[in-house]
Order: sequence, then C-alpha cells, then structure tokens
Amino acid sequence: MGKDVIVACDFASAEQTFAFLDKFTGRKPFVKIGMELFYAEGPSIVRQIKARGHKIFLDLKLHDIPNTVKKAMAVLRNLDVDITNLHAAGTTAMMQGALEGLTREDGSRPLLIAVTQLTSTDQQSMERDILIREPIDEVVMHYAQTAKNAGLDGIVCSPLEAGKVHDACGKAFLTITPGVRFADGEVGDQKRVMTPAQAKEIGSDYIVVGRPITAAADPVAAYERCIAEFCD
Ligand code: C5P
Repeated sequence: MGKDVIVACDFASAEQTFAFLDKFTGRKPFVKIGMELFYAEGPSIVRQIKARGHKIFLDLKLHDIPNTVKKAMAVLRNLDVDITNLHAAGTTAMMQGALEGLTREDGSRPLLIAVTQLTSTDQQSMERDILIREPIDEVVMHYAQTAKNAGLDGIVCSPLEAGKVHDACGKAFLTITPGVRFADGEVGDQKRVMTPAQAKEIGSDYIVVGRPITAAADPVAAYERCIAEFCD
C-alpha cells in the first residue's frame, strides 16, 4: 500500500455513513471506522463498507491484558480490514499477543499500528495523572521504538512528528497522521495542524482527514483536493 488519504467516518449511524459514502461515485476512499460507528452498528458496518469496495482502517485502540487482546484480534482478523490499532502503553507482551491473534492461518494479516500518547494528553496531565515525567516527545519516540521492536508496522502520530519517527525507526515504519487541515480551512479543535501538501513533504505515509472532508459543502471535491495535494 502506498501513500493514501484515509477519511475519518465519524458518524453515529450506518444511515449517515452511507449517505456520505454514496456521494463518492468515482474513486472509493480509504475509510476509518472509529469506536462511535463500530459500537453503534457492530461488525456488520465493517463488512458492508468493505463490500462497497473501500479499504478500511478499524480504529478501536485496543488496550487490555495480552491474552484478551490476542483473542480480540483473532476475531477482528476475520473482518478483513486493512489496518487496525492498539495502545503501545499496553506493553511489548500485549503488542506481540495482538500480532499473533491478528495473523491468519495463511500468514497474512492487517497492518497493525500503535497509538502512542494521545494528542489530548499533554505534559502536565501525563506527569500528574500517569506519573510519566520524561518530555512527551521522548515518550512518543520511545513508544514508537517499542512498537517497532514488537514487530508492529507503524504508529499514529502528529504530522509534525512523522519525520523524526522515520529517522529513528526507518522509512518503512509507517506514520499515520491526523490533524490535517487545508491552508484556507477551519482548524476546529485540532491544535497542531498541517496541510496535506506539508504532510507529504515531511513524509507521512497516510493522512487521516475527518471534518475538512465530511463537513465540506462538496466532500468529493475536498477529498480530491487532499489526494491531489498528498498523493499526486
Ligand atoms: O475531523 P478531524 O480531521 O479532526 O478528524 C481527525 C480524526 O483523527 C478523528 O477521527 C480523530 O479521532 C482522529 N485522531 C486525531 N488525533 C489523534 C488520533 C486520532 O485527530 N491523535
């Protein structure tokens, strides 16, 4: 899989999701399904979107004891998604269990990506609530390295961190980057943003774009603009 734009389908129902996806009569976007839609509609939403010809990033961010995550991943592997994820904070044993569970009998498996520190966590809350006292960018890089050593395929990170992650973990270690906005668009609640063109420049492998596409007056045009800036 090469560089691609992943559209975050942050909708609360299948009806809203299909009303949105129906607009895409040409190129079928790579779709991110998060907790809201998955918990509302269950695994059938994944099968239905897949049957329409979309690639899928199932963003459920698993974090539990290794055995539980291994078994959960063994269920998810049958949904035939292209990418799924977990929290690197679950430790190496959990990540290795996840990989085992995700690997099908023929040796194939979806790409497995780690979440490091969520962008909603800042230095202060990390120190105060989880007693991690190192600088947050070092913590993120340490999680990236741990995920790589466990055999994972990449991490979710800010586009601002993608270059550093590639320097430390190699070009083949994937960076999936949300926080993307058009130069002339609304920033909303995202604090550290980049345009699709800047994300390409810095070496992101995939950008995750939600509202700049889902809330656009013309979502297909906004999606094509992302593709033109990031992929072409
Ligand atoms: O609408 P917007 O483009 O901000 O959507 C970004 C998507 O990426 C959302 O689904 C959000 O949950 C997700 N995300 C993020 N920042 C992270 C991890 C995931 O914005 N650090």
